[in-house]
Amino acid sequence: MIGAPLARVDGRAKVTGAARYSYEEQPAHVAYAVIVTSTIAVGRIASIDGTEALSRRGVLAVLTHDNAPRVRQDAASPGDRKLRLLQDDRVLYDRQPVALVVAESFEVATEAAARVRVTYAAETPATTMNAPGAVTYEPPEANQNPADSARGSFDSAFAAAPVRIDQTYVTPTEFHNPMEPHATTAAWDGNRLTLYDASQGVFDRRKSIAAIFGLPESGVRVVTKFVGGGFGSKGGTNAHTALAAMAARLVGRPVKIVLTRPDMFGGHGYRPRTEQHLRIGADTSGRLLALAHDVRSQASRFENFIENSAVISRMLYAVPNQVTTHRGVRYDVATPTFMRAPGESSGSFALESAMDELAYATGVDPLALRLLNYTETDPDQHGKPFSSKSLRRCYAEGAARFGWSQRPPQVRATRTADGLLVGYGMASSTYPANRSSSAAMATVHSDGSAYVTSGACDIGTGAYTAFTQIAAEALGIDVAHVRFDLGDTLMPEAARAGGSQQTASVANAVHLAGIAVRDKLAAAAVADAASPLHGRRLDDMTFARGRIALRERPELGETYVAILQRAGVSSMSAFAEAKHDRRVKGPYSTHAFGAHFAEVHVDPDFGTVRLARMVSAFAAGRIVNSRMARSQYMGGVVWGVSMALHEEGRIDERSGRYMNANLENYLVPVNADIPEIDIVLVDEEDPHVNPLGIKGIGEIGIVGMNAAVANAVFHATEKRVRDLPIRPEKLL
Ligand code: MOS
Repeated sequence: MIGAPLARVDGRAKVTGAARYSYEEQPAHVAYAVIVTSTIAVGRIASIDGTEALSRRGVLAVLTHDNAPRVRQDAASPGDRKLRLLQDDRVLYDRQPVALVVAESFEVATEAAARVRVTYAAETPATTMNAPGAVTYEPPEANQNPADSARGSFDSAFAAAPVRIDQTYVTPTEFHNPMEPHATTAAWDGNRLTLYDASQGVFDRRKSIAAIFGLPESGVRVVTKFVGGGFGSKGGTNAHTALAAMAARLVGRPVKIVLTRPDMFGGHGYRPRTEQHLRIGADTSGRLLALAHDVRSQASRFENFIENSAVISRMLYAVPNQVTTHRGVRYDVATPTFMRAPGESSGSFALESAMDELAYATGVDPLALRLLNYTETDPDQHGKPFSSKSLRRCYAEGAARFGWSQRPPQVRATRTADGLLVGYGMASSTYPANRSSSAAMATVHSDGSAYVTSGACDIGTGAYTAFTQIAAEALGIDVAHVRFDLGDTLMPEAARAGGSQQTASVANAVHLAGIAVRDKLAAAAVADAASPLHGRRLDDMTFARGRIALRERPELGETYVAILQRAGVSSMSAFAEAKHDRRVKGPYSTHAFGAHFAEVHVDPDFGTVRLARMVSAFAAGRIVNSRMARSQYMGGVVWGVSMALHEEGRIDERSGRYMNANLENYLVPVNADIPEIDIVLVDEEDPHVNPLGIKGIGEIGIVGMNAAVANAVFHATEKRVRDLPIRPEKLL
């Protein structure tokens, strides 16, 4: 059952509308809140007047910093969050919450919100990384990675290298736009709070909200049954979740908040702009001698999140002399956050573009160049072996499927029948195989069905389905009779759906819980003189289709139903925990790997780029569901194209407001932009990464895809675009 291309177990609920998302919860007497956001990027609220808004029929409350209940706005996790929760008159970024209107309906709240009168004492914002007021700082870390690294002696090796690449690559500010915007429904029962929240981790959310309101964690329940995409944006706790709870307490009714699409470009995190200086020194055959990757990442004035863009350069290739640095650049913007493969996706654009430049500088085929600098061990962890690494096979199988050997080495060498320039480009991909402690509970009922829970989140990736398969396999019960449930802090604690870690983390717990119940059933049979398995050894038994049998004599056995009925119990349960301490470094470095190949057609007159073909090959340990894995990789690849050609948050440098805060002007690819995507699943068995051999696949799909497209554009046009996205005007 593990690996089978099972269709989504929640698919029917989703397409029929039976799946209820956080904003669709409808507790009795629910009220609706709308957030009023700042129209300046930095300054003070000089005056705020909610009188007119409050006088509208159906308005229940108007909260501002003058009257909002006092809470701890510096208590949210992860790390050093400092949410803006109407506690003071400072404005630190454009679209910061400054008031909250609660009303009988969303429409009334929206209308009244426009009548909250705010005047500001505005200050002049610094709105770019190079503005006079922008401040460069040394961050304590880069998204949980060491900010700097060094090995060998870069300076002398680079100075002596016969071939040198020295370029700066820029990735723009990008905003997550999941189909489901952020949403929270909050309900208090006395001093106990229940939140239906669009979240990537209900336990993280519970911890943050309990700390903000000074409640015990047991007093907060967070429920997340369905999520319409997260991509990192729903990983951390954002202001609206706390504001919904605050409003609900104040008006004594449940309150729900949903963000509008323009709100999604506000203070809820985004991918920071990066400027990445790459220096590569190589010998004339293309062998790497020295590499420096120095990152400047957009940062806010008041929190520390930056992207870990140089981390990929530390481990992807064999290079003896290396330095990497990350610096944050503070200016008057909201704080960025995790966005699919934070660090690796922006960093791979720089590294894999620079490698392509090196390929042309040395006359070595780009794929051959990567093979020349292949490393079998992790240079960032003192040559520690990888738990498994099948990148060679990703290159080989991807290249064969794509027809990379047909690529002419010269640029501008090929045209289509109608005169478009044809280019081939490739890039490598990798993402760490992470894991955190998780727990699960499995129950087998006397009717033979099973109910298994773990408080994970399905952010659209297929977690319900994957864990149903894992549970069914471990229990020896057909998937049709297994119900897996998730998304509730009343369930056993699970890793968040972030950092590509949830499947590897939770699957191992679900597996252990399933095995534990199965063994309990077997033990009951062994101890029971009435059982055909009486006195037999557990090691001699097999478990399938809800029945235990002797391996050597399959006719000798009995069903779970028979065992439970004879025992006179309605069910048997087991709780299991798969522990993993991320701070303890094991004997292996754990990464998934992949390779992208892209063909573009570029109109030489208009500079328009069309993707013609894409082949991406990935090896990520054991694949739990090949259909969903393919879909997940594909989503990453599409987003890589989006990074390459479309996405860019454009800031108004006078006001500090992102101007294209809607899906009309914030470009993302549509179906017409994306040809068939050929995903190659490269088989990989990893006996070390975790007991089930699963590596995460959520983020690796996007890593390097932007560079593969940019490299193909260079091959077609001889134009090297080092600042994304590749707009037509940059090719003219
Ligand atoms: Mo992912 S950006 O860790 O949700």
